[in-house]
Amino acid sequence: MNDQPFTNQATNQATKQSTKTAEIILTGDRATGPLHLGHYVGSLKQRVDLQNHHQQTILVADMQGLTDNAHNPTKVSSNILNVVADYLAVGINPAKTTICLQSQLPALAELTMYYSNLVTIARLERNPTVKSEIQSKGFERSIPAGFLTYPISQAADITGFHATLVPVGDDQLPMLEQTNEIVRKLNSLAGKKILKECRPLLSNASRLPSTDGKNKMSKTMGNTINLGASEKEIREAVKSMYTDPNHLRIEDPGSVDGNVVFTYLDAFHPEAAYVEELKAHYQRGGLGDGTTKKILEECLQEMLRPIRQKRTEFLSDKAQLIEILSKGSEISREKTQQVLVDVKEVFGLNIL
Ligand code: TRP
Repeated sequence: MNDQPFTNQATNQATKQSTKTAEIILTGDRATGPLHLGHYVGSLKQRVDLQNHHQQTILVADMQGLTDNAHNPTKVSSNILNVVADYLAVGINPAKTTICLQSQLPALAELTMYYSNLVTIARLERNPTVKSEIQSKGFERSIPAGFLTYPISQAADITGFHATLVPVGDDQLPMLEQTNEIVRKLNSLAGKKILKECRPLLSNASRLPSTDGKNKMSKTMGNTINLGASEKEIREAVKSMYTDPNHLRIEDPGSVDGNVVFTYLDAFHPEAAYVEELKAHYQRGGLGDGTTKKILEECLQEMLRPIRQKRTEFLSDKAQLIEILSKGSEISREKTQQVLVDVKEVFGLNIL
C-alpha cells in the first residue's frame, strides 16, 4: 500500500478540520452473530465518532457471512437485525450513517464478477487472513469457492462506494491490499482513474482478548461478552475470566500481563489512574482476583445496561429496523449501480 494506515489519533486531527477533508467511509460486519465487546472497542465506538465528520456507510455483510455458512444459513439470516440493533444501541445514528444490507445491492455481486478476472487463484491463496481462516475452519481441500474469493467481493463493497477510508481491525489489512491491487489494475486497463484506492483506519485500541485469554473471540467458543449480554451472562463471563494462574493466595504478588481482568479494566474502566493503582497493588500482593473481578463486573454492568436496554427496545420493533435497512439499501443501491456502469464501460459493455 502506498499510504500508511493511520490511527484514531490521526483521524481525530483530521476530523477536526473543515468538512473539505470529509472522507467516504465504508465498513462492514459479517452478520454471523451478535456483536460483542471486541467489536465495541475495536470499531463501533470509533464509528459513532466518525459519523459526525464523514460520509459513513456500514454494510451488513450477509453474503460474505454465507461464504462459510451456506449449510447453516439461519446463522446469517437470523443475525441481520441483531447486528442492526447492536449498531443503533451503541449510538450509530441512521440519520448520519447509512446502514445497508449487502445482498440488497446487486451491483456488488456484478462488480465481484468483473474483478474476479483481475485476480489470480494464487494471489487469493496467498492472502494471510484467508489462509489462517481456512486452517482454523478446517476446510483443508474443501474450500468453498465463495470463501476463497471473498476478498474480491470485499473489494467490490469498498470500491462500490468509492470509499477512501475503511475502519478495520489489522486482520483486514490484507483485504485492503487486495482491493487496492484491483483498483490499480482496473485503472491501468481504463487508462484513467475510475476507482479510488482506500486507506485503512486502524483503531488505537489493541485487540481485546477472549475471556479465556487464549483464543480469538469466538461466539461458538463462548469466550465473548455480547453487547446484549444479560446481567447473569456478564457476571459469569467475568467470574470465569483468565487471570494469573500463579496467583494462588491473595498475599502473593500477581502478574497483570496477560491477565484478562486487567486488560478489560484498561479497555473499559473510566478511571485510568485507579486501574494503575489496582495494578500496582496486585503486583505487590494483597489484592485478590475476587476483588478485581468484582470491580470489572460492576464497570461492565454499568456500561452495558443502557446498551442492552436500547437493544431490546430496538429489537421489539422489527418493522423499524427493516425500514432503516431498506432505506439505507435503497440509497446504496443507486451509488453502487453508478460505479458498476463505470466499470462495465472499461470493458465496453454498456452497449444496450
Ligand atoms: N471482512 C469483514 C469482517 O470479517 C467484514 C466486511 C465485509 C467488511 N465487507 C467489508 C469490512 C467492507 C470492511 C469493508 O469483519
